[in-house]
Amino acid sequence: MFDGIGSMADGYRVQSPNDIRYGAGVTAELEGYLTDRGVDSALVVTDGDILEAGAAEPVFDALEAAGVAVSTFDGVAPEPKLGMAERAAGELERADADVVVGVGGGSSLDTAKLAAVLPEYDVDVRDLLGMGNVPGRGRPTVLVPTTAGTGSEVTHIGVFADEDDENNKKVVYSEHLFCDLALVDPDLTRSLPPGVAAATGMDALSHAIEAYVSTLRTPYTDMLARRAIELVGESLREAVHQGEHNDEARYRMSLAATLGGQAFVNAGLGAVHALTYPLGVEYGIGHGRANAVLLPHVVRYNAPAEPDRLADVASLLGVDRRDGETALEHARRGADAIAALNDDIGIPNRMHELGDVRGTTAEFEAFADVAFEHSLHNIERNPRRLERADVVRIFENAY
Ligand SMILES: [Fe+2]
Repeated sequence: MFDGIGSMADGYRVQSPNDIRYGAGVTAELEGYLTDRGVDSALVVTDGDILEAGAAEPVFDALEAAGVAVSTFDGVAPEPKLGMAERAAGELERADADVVVGVGGGSSLDTAKLAAVLPEYDVDVRDLLGMGNVPGRGRPTVLVPTTAGTGSEVTHIGVFADEDDENNKKVVYSEHLFCDLALVDPDLTRSLPPGVAAATGMDALSHAIEAYVSTLRTPYTDMLARRAIELVGESLREAVHQGEHNDEARYRMSLAATLGGQAFVNAGLGAVHALTYPLGVEYGIGHGRANAVLLPHVVRYNAPAEPDRLADVASLLGVDRRDGETALEHARRGADAIAALNDDIGIPNRMHELGDVRGTTAEFEAFADVAFEHSLHNIERNPRRLERADVVRIFENAY
């Protein structure tokens, strides 16, 4: 059952960037934002594919209209490495730009956030890893997502592979990484390839569902998460299959992604994000696809611990409760609906279809060790307690 707005006894904190703008064509507002502040120069942080697809054109148009000198760092790649943030920071210092504009998926936005901070302080990038180690604000940062999924534009988190540590992922969390302006413009997702729209959309759904059952959830994050789940259920199929021609579906997915980002940055995540961690590190399986495959299995695992909330998830995804059906049964049919959604948008439902995963118990035990070592905070926020054996069983079920 939905808790509504909670009670007067509930206290919680909500963190967010303070200027988030939505809507088709909202990128054009960058011009006024920059001229109002007397900005002379900007560094765009993005990846080469985004430039090639033309998705960043509206950003460059707005920069040109504002009359600012533009430099571009296009060296971001999926699953970004710490070195990319260092190189982007080097470019920022060389150009001495007033503003950093991150344009792209989560990788570009995370890189922009970290790059904006580095030139301001005499620190090594590795000094900033972990929670609360960024000394202060960096250069002003504008984030413009071209996917609808990661929610990076509204989080204070950056995720990077560490080249000096077997490419293990490292996370930077700091309130100083919240951007100054997020421009969420569904026009920029028009050229998203269907596979990317599918994977990033399932990342958004994972954020919302994990936040909704997280041990740190609040009435505020519940509202964000519920609406995000509903929007994904209504619109992801259309956004994937009709993306270019369905502005409404893409608008709804952009909103879902940002709401999901705001939900999880304040409530935390859970087992899905913990378990996908080793898949990314070991096999380079994309974050969104790995989440999508594990999500139904984790929902089934969590259902006995949170039957009412996961029955809510089923309802929000359009699965009506049958007469006489228990919450647990309904919740499990919600997991089936997530698997059906994967099917409909071209994401496999089995881990062995994702990559070169061997599927042995020894391999899954090693995955469990990595998850407990590097993603313990997510395991601790999962509503049902997880032991190593549980993690192995979830992987075996998903294989
Ligand atoms: Fe995610």
